[in-house]
Amino acid sequence: MRFTSDKSRCANLNIMQESKNRLAVDGAAPQREKMLLFGAPSFGQEEFDEVLDTLKSGWISTGPKTKQFEQEFAEYVGANYAIGLNSCTAGLHLSLVALGIGPGDHVIVPTLTFGATANVVEHVGARPVLVDVDAATLTIDPRAVERALTPRVKAIIPVHYAGMPCDLDALHALADPRGIAIIEDAAHAIGAKYKGHAIGALSPLTNFSFYANKNLSTAEGGMVTTNDAALEEKLRVYHLHGLSRDAWKRYHTKAYSLSEVVTPGFKYNMTDIQASLGIHQLRKQEAFIARREQIASFYDEAFSELGSMVWTPPRPHDGQNRHVLHLYSLLVDVTRLRVDRNQVISALLAENIGASMHFNPLHAMPYYRDKYGYQPSDFPNAQCVGEREISLPVQPQITDADAQDVVEAVKKVLSAYAR
Ligand SMILES: Cc1ncc(COP(=O)(O)O)c(C=O)c1O
Repeated sequence: MRFTSDKSRCANLNIMQESKNRLAVDGAAPQREKMLLFGAPSFGQEEFDEVLDTLKSGWISTGPKTKQFEQEFAEYVGANYAIGLNSCTAGLHLSLVALGIGPGDHVIVPTLTFGATANVVEHVGARPVLVDVDAATLTIDPRAVERALTPRVKAIIPVHYAGMPCDLDALHALADPRGIAIIEDAAHAIGAKYKGHAIGALSPLTNFSFYANKNLSTAEGGMVTTNDAALEEKLRVYHLHGLSRDAWKRYHTKAYSLSEVVTPGFKYNMTDIQASLGIHQLRKQEAFIARREQIASFYDEAFSELGSMVWTPPRPHDGQNRHVLHLYSLLVDVTRLRVDRNQVISALLAENIGASMHFNPLHAMPYYRDKYGYQPSDFPNAQCVGEREISLPVQPQITDADAQDVVEAVKKVLSAYAR
């Protein structure tokens, strides 16, 4: 056996210390060996069995499982009707079509959202009018909405950003007396509550996303909910080619009757394979939300050590209002770093932490910026968030050790990049 001298032992220690603080992006060993994916879905045996059952049944597109999922979903969100779709984007588009919004109309949309929220407005030939978000909640600012109101505004699409319910009372107080429709973009917000009521029946139309990384995932998918029977009828017809009757209804009645095109509709229906996932994901939502809250509280406590270098938006959970943590958003004071937010995310990815960001605001996107001439100074809050937000993994299946890795990596990266 060879003994190392004290001197060389100390040198080794220094090297170890240095390599611990060095970043994977600069060639050091990453925080963890395997990538912790951002927003990976959480499926179990129940979902696997149900999908197999559907595949073996011979009826794989829209059928009995979609119907079951629609009914159970409507019940969960307290709406009279729910229509399964192939995406939330489809639901937002159909909502505008069903309300007859088109050329010449304006629709108010928060700039801090995913492209789909505004793209659908373009698809119907109307004009999206972007407004800023509230600096604290990061949801659409009702004062900005009020300033943007004109006789041309026919709808508002508030986004429950990250799972935080918007100030719906303030929005309805502006919209309802003027005959302006509210179409909620609840892509992030299944299970969210506003003043004691589930998001899903608080406006004429609400749209949910079941995309791969959403709190409820069917790989791709969506749901539009409403309490209005006339709107439901229109959405049903429009969501499947404009046919008077869907295939399941046509084949499962004794007397065969022809289905007729009553309007040129779309191909937006959900399949029973998607619904098979959705039925079980829905039953797990409350447990999923509880685990998301645990992980988020762990992050909150750990990041409080970083002081004013980071902050997080408020997350009400008081029995009346509930944020459902689709995203855990960490806002970083980039003015105290030597690099920008994107470089922080790159460094986290190199550490095998699946960090992401939400969102690059729409006013900064080439299409909207160039078409409407938006300036960053028109949207100071969203601009600030767009430069500072980092979304960290918060899916329910991540372990305490995974969450610890996230914390270590964030601290390591921020301290390495501090001015
Ligand atoms: C706020 C928001 N709206 C709409 C969508 C579109 O959802 P989908 O992918 O189901 O069409 C997303 C997707 O991530 C979103 O984040």
